[in-house]
Amino acid sequence: MGKFMSSMEVIWTDLVHHRQDFDSFHLREAFAADPSRFERFSTEMDGCLTLDYSRNRVDEKTMLLLEKLIEAAGVRTRFAEMKGGATINNTEGRAVLHVALRGSVSANLEVNGQKIMDDINAVKKRLYAFATGVRDGSIAAKDGQPFTDVVNIGIGGSDLGPHMVTRALSAFHDGPRVHFVSNVDGAHMGDTLKTLEPARTLFLVASKTFTTQETMTNARAAKAWLTAALGDDAVADHFAALSTNKEGVEGFGINTDRMFEFWDWVGGRYSVWSAIGLPVMIAIGADGFEEFLAGARSMDSHFASAPFRENIPMLMAALGLWYRNVWDCASMAVLPYDQRLEYFADFLQQLDMESNGKSVHNDGSSLARASGPVIWGASGTNGQHAFYQELHQGTDIIPCEFLVAAKPTDADDYQHELLLANCFAQVEALAKGRTAEEAKAQLEASGKSAEEVAALVPHKVFEGNRPSSLIFYDELTPKMLGRLIALYEQKVFVQGVVWGVNPYDQWGVELGKELANKLAPAVKTGDRGEGDPAILDRLKAYRAK
Ligand code: F6P
Repeated sequence: MGKFMSSMEVIWTDLVHHRQDFDSFHLREAFAADPSRFERFSTEMDGCLTLDYSRNRVDEKTMLLLEKLIEAAGVRTRFAEMKGGATINNTEGRAVLHVALRGSVSANLEVNGQKIMDDINAVKKRLYAFATGVRDGSIAAKDGQPFTDVVNIGIGGSDLGPHMVTRALSAFHDGPRVHFVSNVDGAHMGDTLKTLEPARTLFLVASKTFTTQETMTNARAAKAWLTAALGDDAVADHFAALSTNKEGVEGFGINTDRMFEFWDWVGGRYSVWSAIGLPVMIAIGADGFEEFLAGARSMDSHFASAPFRENIPMLMAALGLWYRNVWDCASMAVLPYDQRLEYFADFLQQLDMESNGKSVHNDGSSLARASGPVIWGASGTNGQHAFYQELHQGTDIIPCEFLVAAKPTDADDYQHELLLANCFAQVEALAKGRTAEEAKAQLEASGKSAEEVAALVPHKVFEGNRPSSLIFYDELTPKMLGRLIALYEQKVFVQGVVWGVNPYDQWGVELGKELANKLAPAVKTGDRGEGDPAILDRLKAYRAK
């Protein structure tokens, strides 16, 4: 680790010094001086997906240094180790093989003496048969009639991935309606059940551990609702489980022929490619899911083989490192111009922040520099009318990633033109801004007095030079979505390697879980026990009203 860090430190120091080269840099001037800036700072894969990073505070030297940094960290070797089944997740003693779920490893790869592609393919066959049966009605409800509604009960990785993907691919839905319940707040399950009929509803209990408090509580609530209407024997037909915990599933009362397993080498936030993807399979069918996997597989092979300046995940990771560690940007925004990607930022929050929100290295020593930034965002154009003001004129620099498709998927062409125009306008406005002279000229042209012009100009100036990248693709198909998710997974991987953290554990969520379980009895009674006595006293007082 010492040697590894010291060779990296030299490059970090060079990068920090290099930042001074940008003291008088402005994207507006950079574009004026170099009409080929787009050609130099963009790349395309598979003829359908472009990363345009020309509107970033970078020059050739920046890219050279970032390339050296990524090389020195040994990213490619680490990826080869991951694909070879090495125990990358060292704190939990596990391999990290979500890439195997989309066929990006050797067909003979063994983990713990087991050929994992055989296991993956066997479970996938069962999953596709089940999804097809639910879709065509051959797997039916207790009364022999088809299901019209499927409710996925899960949280975190057992919810965010399949929920985001199911929503994103709604143009391809031709199966039953799919709903998602995650929050332990009974209102989530209650509001969902209000719209459903027990006789027509199938529940999928999605939990890697099958012990998560929120999921098990919601699953019990669903079971009570179902059995109250249809009797105890309805559970066999109306429930299925997606899990690694056979005993837990049986203990809940779900027969293991309705259990679809995955393995401890699939992290929750990387599990949408596994049995956790069943709601997606039910919504779009097995062929659509195969396309989704194929998209991810093509991103994996691009990531493994493309040189740095053509490698989209590496470039995006490198830019993130540059802003986080050299420019001290504490957050970054992800802005898909696609209403169906409305949950994309939520999904990325877990993927990125649960993976790289760490403060120690793999070996337990403290990090020398900041790790994962805050990831946030919302779909455009809605965000424009909410928080973009701060992106353009706030005091913080917030790097942005914009995503947009050239063609709409079963939506109105004219509206899609407006969507694209808005997206392109934002990246342009952030980069080039509006100078005081331009603001003045505009105000004068609108007939303002000299005094009014002087008073308003400072408010109308856009500093510009605000960094953004554009991820531009032909259409949001299952295959493209597979590419996009794998792109972000690999970006997170690269950054994790450079920071020297373990992106595949999540000990930071444990403490809150343990305390919540301890506090539950005190909250029930309102009596002082575990927890802050002052707030428990106030709870008791409010309840007594
Ligand atoms: O939030 C912590 C976490 O462990 C996530 O990593 C995981 O995706 C989520 O809880 C749900 O866990 P499970 O699938 O075991 O219910």
